[in-house]
Amino acid sequence: MNNKIEKLIELNRLAELGGGEDRINSQHKKGKLTARERLEILLDPGSFVEVDKFVVHQCVDFGMSEQKILGDGVVVGFGQIDGRDVAVFSQDFTVFGGSLSEMHAKKICKIMDMAMKLGIPIIGLNDSGGARIQEGVSSLGGYAEIFLRNTLCSGLVPQISAVLGPCAGGAVYSPAITDFIFMVRNTSYMFVTGPNVVKTVTHEEVTFDELGGADVHARKSGVVHFIYDDEESCLKDIRRLVSYIPQNCDEEPPLYEYTKPESKIPELINIIPENPNLPYDVKDIIKYIIDYNEFFEVQSEFAPNIVVGFGRIKGRSVGIIANQPAVLAGVLDINSSIKGARFVRFCDAFNIPLIVLVDVPGFMPGTDQEWGGIIRNGAKLLYAFCEATVPKITIILRKAYGGAYDVMNSKHIRGDFNFAWPSAEIAVMGPKGAVEIIFKREIDNAENPEMVLNNKLQQYIDKFANPFVAAEKGYIDEVIFPDETRIKIIKALELTRTKVDKNPRKKHGNIPL
Ligand code: HXC
Repeated sequence: MNNKIEKLIELNRLAELGGGEDRINSQHKKGKLTARERLEILLDPGSFVEVDKFVVHQCVDFGMSEQKILGDGVVVGFGQIDGRDVAVFSQDFTVFGGSLSEMHAKKICKIMDMAMKLGIPIIGLNDSGGARIQEGVSSLGGYAEIFLRNTLCSGLVPQISAVLGPCAGGAVYSPAITDFIFMVRNTSYMFVTGPNVVKTVTHEEVTFDELGGADVHARKSGVVHFIYDDEESCLKDIRRLVSYIPQNCDEEPPLYEYTKPESKIPELINIIPENPNLPYDVKDIIKYIIDYNEFFEVQSEFAPNIVVGFGRIKGRSVGIIANQPAVLAGVLDINSSIKGARFVRFCDAFNIPLIVLVDVPGFMPGTDQEWGGIIRNGAKLLYAFCEATVPKITIILRKAYGGAYDVMNSKHIRGDFNFAWPSAEIAVMGPKGAVEIIFKREIDNAENPEMVLNNKLQQYIDKFANPFVAAEKGYIDEVIFPDETRIKIIKALELTRTKVDKNPRKKHGNIPL
């Protein structure tokens, strides 16, 4: 028996060594942690339960039968974050560059299948040279098996990806299907084809970082949701994200204790400038509304004219979607519509109430936007809000013009509580544009066109640049004092706790992709 136990100890030691000391050192030299070190930071201490530690590849070509490393380049299993179960896989770059073999893929699929049955989130730490070249089509098949499971899991259990090294070719599509992607600057990149292929096909010269580094994906492509300077901060923030979300689509997010007494927040009264054309930072308002001013912003650098992210109100998770007047006056364009839509759909899939702060002058005009499909893309945000059945609370802070009024969780598309501040302006369009259209002839024919224009402008402002016309029609449930906003939201959240709303039975909708 002793011999057998010693053999088990030795096998465990070998599996934990992965590709060996030299390759571990080389990983550290690049500023990267090993697959197991990453799991130690990600998971509660001592909670990791590993499976398939002794799995090896089945390849016999290219001398591979002599090169078998226990675990085959990926560490998989289950662990806990703040005492809540998660399924995890962590690719080991020290073993064949973390490349994906048939058996490596089977390990990942096994814990994904378990996660679906257990109803727990899946977190993947990706660090891989892509398909195991020696295995050819078997590894391509392995990827497809993962993609299928990513799709089946979508909306069922939360899926989180960290890209902590190379991620190229079709391999990018597994993270892309998941709900959130985390990346680290300088050590990780994602692209469908690398710089060499780009040079051959399009003659562009571009570095790895310029093509698919963390900053590029956070700012330009919008592929990535969170970026960091180091892996430790990245892994710790995955823990933070998990704290806001439920285990699966049938559960509620965790409720945190919050006992501070509530009072009015006078600071909210003076954030919006007197002049309606001046900008302000909507994040100042968000911070006052949520517990401890703690806002966990998602995609902060992409399409900053809309702000999305998580917070808590009286300990309960909420998803916040806010137009940002400080950037492009908070206009809705293609990228902000897509960003907002995806976030709304995540929250709706996972029972996270939506708090919508509106200050939007409309949709962005111009050929760029029209030819780029603002119609099709703006419709995504509209569709997402329309189909959402979670509690939906809207506060119109200032402008709510045109189609953007309808889109931003208006009463008409099943907003549960629609509030407006006295500074709200709800109309088909801004006063100047409206007056120039409806009184064009009168202004053109006037002896003093400017005086007529100003008169008409004032009439229009008096009539429409306020929340009261909408309140008269019941489109706004209540015009509230800004300093009472948090109190009103708390009450609305309490009332909507028992909300039940359903969409008509169907196979699935057809969101305008
Ligand atoms: C097998 C691989 C590998 C791969 C790397 N290795 N990628 N082994 N299959 N795909 C091995 C290397 O042989 C090396 O082994 C070790 O991993 C580390 O690789 P290095 O090249 O020394 O590391 P580095 O300089 O950091 O470069 C990393 C890299 C490079 C940029 C990822 O290895 C690379 O370009 N690899 C090939 C990437 C690729 O073309 N993959 C296929 C993409 S197509 P030793 O023994 O020396 O340590 C694809 C299709 C997916 O993925 C489709 C899904 C639908």
